[in-house]
Amino acid sequence: MKKVFVLAAALMLFAAPAMAVISGSKHDFTQAPYNATEICVFCHTPHGADTSVADAPLWNHYTTTQTFTTYTSASLDGTITSPSGRSKLCLSCHDGVTAIDAYGGATTGTPMATGIAANLGTDLSNDHPVSVTYEDAANGGTDAGLRAADAAVGTSVTNGGVTLPLYTDKVECASCHDVHNGGAGQPMLRASNANSALCLVCHNK
Ligand code: HEC
Ligand code: HEC
Ligand code: HEC
Ligand code: HEC
Repeated sequence: MKKVFVLAAALMLFAAPAMAVISGSKHDFTQAPYNATEICVFCHTPHGADTSVADAPLWNHYTTTQTFTTYTSASLDGTITSPSGRSKLCLSCHDGVTAIDAYGGATTGTPMATGIAANLGTDLSNDHPVSVTYEDAANGGTDAGLRAADAAVGTSVTNGGVTLPLYTDKVECASCHDVHNGGAGQPMLRASNANSALCLVCHNK
């Protein structure tokens, strides 16, 4: 009886779809044309990390030095700064200028191809705001259209069973995206955006 159960459990394991991970994703640079020997090394190092960007996790990639045009709008309540923290890390490749293979002390190489959707460029005025403060009422903000942040104010927002991180009370690229391709939603989203569920975690519309 026990054996049958173990076998059934094993079969279920094999039948389950492979969990999406960074390996084989667009952020797996061990593949051509990059052929890095390690999967994390393009972005992280255990020692001698670049600490110049606030909140950077053991950063090993050359950081963008570009000047960005930020989102503006008459109805915006939050404060936007030029991309900081975790958004600046993403833009150290997605700006289309900084070389993708500039890591481990290298500062030059080949930037992202022009004309592809992943290349956001340096004009972010047509992109969802990042490095923008989360002005919900719970934080003493004025934006009634935003859901109240979680109890530990400024760290996350939860709705419909999905929790998205805020970074010192700001929305960054990593609030919506999982750079390590956890597989919850594509393209590399922290949760599926079917029926705009991702948007509705924060927006009370
Ligand atoms: C393409 C660049 C990139 C690659 C490759 C990458 N990371 Fe990251 N990692 C980031 C960025 C950007 C952040 C900050 C954003 C965030 O927290 O999601 C981060 C955050 C982290 C964090 C802290 C936050 C968390 O998610 O726990 C850990 C730990 C981490 N990475 C480990 C790894 C390991 C281990 C690998 C290799 C298996 C790896 N990363 C590969 C870019 C990368
Ligand atoms: C080391 C360079 C590098 C860094 C750092 C980096 N990316 Fe990427 N990313 C890429 C490349 C290269 C692609 C593939 C572009 C293409 O389609 O050719 C990509 C693709 C993506 C895609 C599309 C995935 C898909 O399956 O279509 C998303 C989303 C993305 N990145 C988000 C992020 C976010 C968010 C961050 C920061 C948290 C980040 N990236 C940091 C290089 C980088
Ligand atoms: C508020 C949530 C949110 C934020 C913040 C955000 N994104 Fe996205 N991003 C999305 C969603 C949702 C999609 C999928 C859009 C679609 O499939 O039509 C997406 C798509 C992408 C893609 C794939 C483009 C493509 O079509 O191949 C890339 C690359 C990307 N984002 C990078 C970034 C970077 C870099 C940042 C920060 C500068 C960022 N995103 C900030 C929600 C966000
Ligand atoms: C992590 C939280 C979060 C998520 C997820 C999110 N947003 Fe936002 N969004 C914000 C914040 C914060 C602002 C800035 C609001 C302000 O200050 O007025 C904003 C701004 C906007 C604006 C501009 C508002 C204006 O007044 O100009 C639009 C439109 C918008 N978001 C749509 C979306 C859509 C569509 C999605 C899903 C693809 C989405 N958002 C996902 C937090 C989020």
